[in-house]
Amino acid sequence: MASSPDSFKIGIAGLGTVGVGVVKILQQNQDLIAARAGRSIEIVTIAAKDQSKDRGVDLSTYEWADDLLSLAQNTDIDCLVECIGGDDGIVKETVQSALENGKDVVTANKALLAKHGVSFSKIAEENNCALLYEAAVAGGIPIIKTLREGLAANEINSVFGILNGTCNYILTTMEKTGRDFDDVLKEAQDLGYAEADPSFDIDGIDAAHKLVLLAGLAFGVEPDFDALEISGIRSITAHDIKAAKELGYTIKLLGITKHINDQYIQTLEPCLVPSYSAIAQVDDAYNAVMTDGDFVEQTMMQGKGAGEGPTASSIVADLIDLAKGYKPHAFGQTSAKLKKVEWQNNEELECPCYLHLVVKDEPGVLAEITSRLSELNISIDSLLQHGHEEDGSARIIIMTQTAPFKTTSESVKSVEGLDCVLDKPTLLRIEEV
Ligand code: HSE
Repeated sequence: MASSPDSFKIGIAGLGTVGVGVVKILQQNQDLIAARAGRSIEIVTIAAKDQSKDRGVDLSTYEWADDLLSLAQNTDIDCLVECIGGDDGIVKETVQSALENGKDVVTANKALLAKHGVSFSKIAEENNCALLYEAAVAGGIPIIKTLREGLAANEINSVFGILNGTCNYILTTMEKTGRDFDDVLKEAQDLGYAEADPSFDIDGIDAAHKLVLLAGLAFGVEPDFDALEISGIRSITAHDIKAAKELGYTIKLLGITKHINDQYIQTLEPCLVPSYSAIAQVDDAYNAVMTDGDFVEQTMMQGKGAGEGPTASSIVADLIDLAKGYKPHAFGQTSAKLKKVEWQNNEELECPCYLHLVVKDEPGVLAEITSRLSELNISIDSLLQHGHEEDGSARIIIMTQTAPFKTTSESVKSVEGLDCVLDKPTLLRIEEV
């Protein structure tokens, strides 16, 4: 085994933005990292598809591994740093093989962990090594360490997060400019914020991977990605953003997980939050995570959720812990202790709601709608109509009072069935954070 008192030896799999960031930070901050870790962190071996590509860093002193599995099994390294991505195939094999060979693994790969995190943490325990993933959730924000250690004395009641920078950039830009979703998405792609296939981000999958990891850690439960209902931001229009703003709210894509009265709830959806709230002020591509613990009460952290520097910063923080000999359990406790729970979705939450309807502009329409809402006891808090359109339609915005979301949703389905309702209603929950 590689372990040496003078250096902690690592192999890096993948030299894209994140892998190169790790090399840069280890080279540039070498001395301070060694001082904090108590020994140097030494890159021994690297693997990437193209060995000849100029990546803007000096890689000349590192060995190139023949393939990923040989890197994972290299007896000269203490730790594999996985910077490739993907939730199956060779990446899964590589991580598993490293753990089976007693090597620590540090990864930013949320998709892999959301799917295999529990089985990997078991393998890590059996082989006396660690699986650390600070960089997988909210990039440079140290939320994993915060939940695992800083807040470890608390029963965590809830975690709220803006967990996807691309979505936050799009929603913020829509609010600032009044432009519509497609237009801003295209700009985000041109600027390199959003991928050519943006669905992982805008449909909420990326944020959902992060949320289930936070839920596992916060509550000491097995993350369950399949039990999470996910709504992204494709259906949010410039009208919604404008109306929400007029009513004192901002729309954010939120990952929310709560433990209330023996119920475990997780949901990933666009919500309205009061414009004065701290979470509403988190703009552009920034992420934020807010936690509530029984003794500490609320905490909030904000920072860059992606990019070379922030992601590499979190990876190297994990490496420093490992070099110091600190090997925490992936979800804060042994995998045998993690509870398998029945997850509920947002239907179990009680909240006020925002309802956007496109209706025929005719007398009696409002009466029909409010009568359907009242059948299930849904009470209206405020109502907005901005004139009417040339095609004979009108937009109505209704804010409903607090009620079980399940009931509000049911009554909106009933409203949707009315002849005067011309389009699929938009129903969003309001979170009074
Ligand atoms: N694509 C993500 C984001 C970063 O936009 O926040 C990686 O998870």
